[in-house]
Amino acid sequence: MIRTIILLAATVIMAQSPRLDSAANGKELFAKRCGGCHALDRDKEGPRLGGVHGRKAGSIASFEYSAALKKSGITWTDDNLNAWLTDTEKLVPGNEMTFRVVSAEERRAIIDFLKSSK
Ligand code: HEC
Repeated sequence: MIRTIILLAATVIMAQSPRLDSAANGKELFAKRCGGCHALDRDKEGPRLGGVHGRKAGSIASFEYSAALKKSGITWTDDNLNAWLTDTEKLVPGNEMTFRVVSAEERRAIIDFLKSSK
């Protein structure tokens, strides 16, 4: 009987522990950290980000990018997205996104989410 209770308690605790799925976590982080300026399917303060992974920087025609980002010539690979979110100014001096993500784990999760959203 005691064993059953302990097992039940353990099951409840495990069911409540945080999800470790990176893209799902990234979806929440995207909403929290980026959602004020970005959406996946429309331009806001920043350009739409649905399908941004693999896209050329500064290539959404309806969005008015900085000259710096437009002529950067970069493509949004994992590495470039990670560098951008770490320090936009270092990757593209003179760009207009004044925001960074300090945690490497959060950057990873957000990039995973962006990769999964077309
Ligand atoms: C304070 C507003 C703001 C926040 C918050 C913000 N961004 Fe941006 N973002 C911008 C602006 C403005 C640009 C365009 C920069 C330019 O033209 O130089 C941009 C550009 C980008 C680009 C380049 C897109 C392209 O089409 O080339 C990516 C990628 C990006 N942001 C990702 C993110 C992610 C991921 C987050 C959240 C972790 C985020 N941004 C948070 C304002 C923001």
